[in-house]
Amino acid sequence: MRFKFISAAEAASLIKDGDIIGLSGFTPAGSPKAVTHELARMAEEKHARGEHFQVGIITGASTGDSCDGALSRAKAIKFRAPYTTNTDFRKAVNSGEINYTDIHLSQVAQRLRSGFLGHVSMAIIEACEVTDDGRVFLTSGVGITPTVARLADKIVIELNAAHSKSIIGMHDLYEMERPPFRRPIPIVKPSDRIGQPYIQIDPDKVAGIVETNIPDEARAFHDPDPITDKIGQNVAEFLAADLRKGVIPSSFLPLQSGVGNIANAVLSALGKDPSIPPFEMYTEVIQNSVINLIKEGRIKFGSTCSLSVTNDCLQDIYDHMDFFRDKLVLRPSEISNCPEVVRRLGVISMNTAIEADIYGNVNSTHICGTKMMNGIGGSGDFTRSAYISIFSCPSTAKGGCISSIVPMVSHQDHSEHSVNVIITEQGIADLRGKSPMERAKEVIEHCAHPDYKQLLWDYLKIATKGHTSHSLAAALGMHQVFLNKGDMRLTDWGDF
Ligand code: COA
Repeated sequence: MRFKFISAAEAASLIKDGDIIGLSGFTPAGSPKAVTHELARMAEEKHARGEHFQVGIITGASTGDSCDGALSRAKAIKFRAPYTTNTDFRKAVNSGEINYTDIHLSQVAQRLRSGFLGHVSMAIIEACEVTDDGRVFLTSGVGITPTVARLADKIVIELNAAHSKSIIGMHDLYEMERPPFRRPIPIVKPSDRIGQPYIQIDPDKVAGIVETNIPDEARAFHDPDPITDKIGQNVAEFLAADLRKGVIPSSFLPLQSGVGNIANAVLSALGKDPSIPPFEMYTEVIQNSVINLIKEGRIKFGSTCSLSVTNDCLQDIYDHMDFFRDKLVLRPSEISNCPEVVRRLGVISMNTAIEADIYGNVNSTHICGTKMMNGIGGSGDFTRSAYISIFSCPSTAKGGCISSIVPMVSHQDHSEHSVNVIITEQGIADLRGKSPMERAKEVIEHCAHPDYKQLLWDYLKIATKGHTSHSLAAALGMHQVFLNKGDMRLTDWGDF
């Protein structure tokens, strides 16, 4: 082989204080795991010697513990974009240690190309195969890999034997041109292929290949429970009703489904509903429930940026590649989440909210307005351009002490202009074509938990009347009562 094999520690030693590194993958799927782990160890040694050492990290989405976790604990991250799920990282961000920029995932590659995020010194790319002429075959996630591989000064490849080479051929890799030279993205159905099954890199930029055998650091899902099952049934009921009315064509429309336990459970419930015909997905993550539904014939095709599945599920895909090969495609995040394509295909988006307000504004990212949870991910890419945009969540959190339906969201990621439907286990609020006050009635009546309905009706009584009625003094009152007393149910509007 033309390239030299180096250890993960040797690769890490090529990274200097202040460098910006770009990583392959999307969620822990396809993210490099060995070099970042060594980088954290190296940072700790340097810090012990009193040396300054911190880097910027740019990825497609979240990574595993060997990146965000290890580097956060080592205090080695200066700057990070665009999405994470790691607990130690979250603590460091919320204590102000790390500068975190939360970006729509479809925009990361373009912002890198345009220089908004600084210069990428090194790309670390997980691959299952690499050829002497610089063709790199990726693994279970793509993210921003084509872009960082082209922009970086140096490339380190983690050649990971834990991934099967049978995945070769599943990728469709295409990088957009910079404006004004960009062409329309020629995808008119989820299964269209427009690129190459590999990325072509400049072989002269390869600093070395690190051989690994490390499975994806996949997160397990909670089993569906009665609440998530009911949310899923409500989503299915809503879609079935729109199908009967002809709002959704009888051939159905492609679905996008968000990340996390609730999204996994919703999709599972949707697949069980016989009134929903077999459908396709145009989405950024495929979780376990989608793979099960593909096997059952309920999902016909999945276009995604990553296989964010548990390792036994990934192994199942690798073991049955003859079955899955023509049913899945893996794309870069700027294509999987491309608003142009989402609007053309008529994608129905289904994402999870942390909280929604009575007027239809949605908070996907912040707890009580200040603490970052994960980030906006691709929810904005899809919601703003969707044929129908749906947000779902349980009507309460933290044992009922928090209502997910509030007078005003404590942080806004998706506005009333983009959000069409809110669904909880209590019911469905269809906000399409409704004025703010009509929406408030719909959301309180159908989505709020019974413990909070009267409180929300009473809020409207004390609100200053207007096109969108609010009491500016009390709009975040339920949040303040939770912070002071630990239970939103103790809110007394007379105190505001
Ligand atoms: N106030 C405080 N905490 C809340 C809350 C609220 N209103 N709503 C939820 N939470 C907490 C839950 O209690 C849970 O806490 P825990 O981890 O301590 O148990 C945590 O948030 C996650 O909630 P969970 O019910 O397990 O949901 P999830 O795994 O489905 O995640 C999001 C929900 C919103 C955090 C997740 O979907 C997300 O990060 N979304 C933003 C990105 C996105 O939408 N991407 C989709 C594009 S593909």
